[in-house]
This record gives sequence, C-alpha cells and structure tokens, in this order.
Amino acid sequence: MAYFQQQIFCKPKIPFIDQLQEGLKEGKSVIVIGSILPMAGRFHVNLQCGSHSDADIALHFNPRYEGGLAFVVLNNFQKSRWDKDECKSDFTLPQNQLFILQILVTKQTYKISVNGEHLMDYVHRIPFTLVDTISVDQMVNLDFIVYQDSAVVPYKTLINGGLQPDKKIVIYGLLNPDSKMVEFSLHRQNGKEFRYKCLFDENLVVLNTSENEWTEEEKTGNVFFKKGQLFKVTISCIKEQFTVCVNDQAHTFKHRIAKLEDIDVFEVYGDLQLFFVKT
Ligand code: GAL
Repeated sequence: MAYFQQQIFCKPKIPFIDQLQEGLKEGKSVIVIGSILPMAGRFHVNLQCGSHSDADIALHFNPRYEGGLAFVVLNNFQKSRWDKDECKSDFTLPQNQLFILQILVTKQTYKISVNGEHLMDYVHRIPFTLVDTISVDQMVNLDFIVYQDSAVVPYKTLINGGLQPDKKIVIYGLLNPDSKMVEFSLHRQNGKEFRYKCLFDENLVVLNTSENEWTEEEKTGNVFFKKGQLFKVTISCIKEQFTVCVNDQAHTFKHRIAKLEDIDVFEVYGDLQLFFVKT
C-alpha cells in the first residue's frame, strides 16, 4: 500500500511560518484547522515564495471582522506591492468555533473551501510552482496545518509502527446531511480488527473486535455525530481500552485483542467528507 503523503504541523504557534515539502503540487491541499479568536479583527494565511519579509505571496487569504461585518480579502503580493483585492462578503466563519480551511491546488486556480463549502476559486496570478512556504498570523488559534494529497473516502492508511499504548488517531470531517453511516476500522490484514460503527437511521453505535471471529457487539444509542456538521474524532489507545471521542463525548471499549501493535491499518468508510486523518 502506498503511503498517503502528509506534512503535518501540530499546534502551530502564531505567527507561524514554515516550508512546504517539495513546494506546491497540483492535486494537493493545504488544510488549516483552528478557531478564530473572539473579538478578532483579522487573520491571514499566506502561500508564499520564500520566507523573507518581502517575499512574493501567491495567495493571501485574509478574513476580516470589521464594523460588524465579516468578509474575506484575497490578494497576491509581488515585487513588494499588493495587487488588486478580490473580496467575498457573504462569508460566515464564526469566531471561537472550529473551522477547517482547505486550499486545493488545481492547474488554473486555488479552490478554497471553508468547513466543506466551496467559497471561491482564486485564479493563479503567480505560478503555484514557485510557492514553497506557508505563513499564518494574527487573531487565530491553530490545531493543525497540513499539506497532503486530498483525502478520499473510503480512506485507508498505514499506522507507522502499529498501535502503541498512548497512540492517538485524530480525524476531522463533515457528515453528509443525509448520512446513513460512518465507520472507523483499526485492523491488520490477518483479521484482527477493532470496529466503531455509527448507524444514523437506527440511532446506534456498534463497537466490536475480531481476532479471526467477531466477538459479542457492544451497542449504545448515544450517537454523538450530527448530520451536516463538522466533527473531530480522536481514537485513543491506552493499556486497557480504546476511547473514541466524538466532539469531546466519549465511548470506551475494553481491549479484547492480545497484541495491539499488530494492528497497523486504519480505515474510514461512510457518508462523509474527510479532511484530515493523523495516525
Ligand atoms: C492591505 C493590508 C495587508 C493585506 C492587503 C491585501 O490593506 O494592510 O495586510 O491584507 O491589504 O490587499
């Protein structure tokens, strides 16, 4: 199985600036996950050519909260001058709430979406191939910045070194408005598996493991996902149990599998848009 290409910055401190491995490539996405500070005035995400203070900026994504309005200014900066602003005024990005910004690099444009909704296409004015740096500054708290291939469901990835105690898997996504199910599976090709499945029509969460055969299911009616909404899931693996936390509400499941480090594949299925998985 090919490794999914990912460059991850965890809890980046503001102001943030770092290099993007191998520069921008068509089909890859920059994902910024965080929350905007209450009473924020502005923040920005820049995709730039180099890291010096006067570097050209191929994309300046700059939400502003001013005079009771929220809007976003997009621009580029070249030869020490700002170009012409592009403004998007019907912009809703509430302060103090999780947001996920995705910038997908295509041949002609940056396809920009916020919380899974397409916001706009920004036509390249500076070739994206010159971009090698990302910077973020001002009134925002960040959880992650990620540069990766686009995540597609069903999603499958390897867990480097297998499941170790204290391992935490983090998943960000958006449930489809008519979603029927979501499933997370931690397994090994030889059959060992831990499965967490949410069935929305039945209002049911089903947890189970298999080490050749499925054991008895644990079921609960506490579904913590909401259709049409963003979610953050963490799957923690401590000595005695798995904990699956959906938007800070937890299900636990006592381990029934003998050697957890044998488990080295993680998969996501279901009716959802997936942004980012950290294994
Ligand atoms: C300027 C502002 C810059 C940048 C630019 C975008 O007014 O000072 O930080 O946002 O607009 O065009």
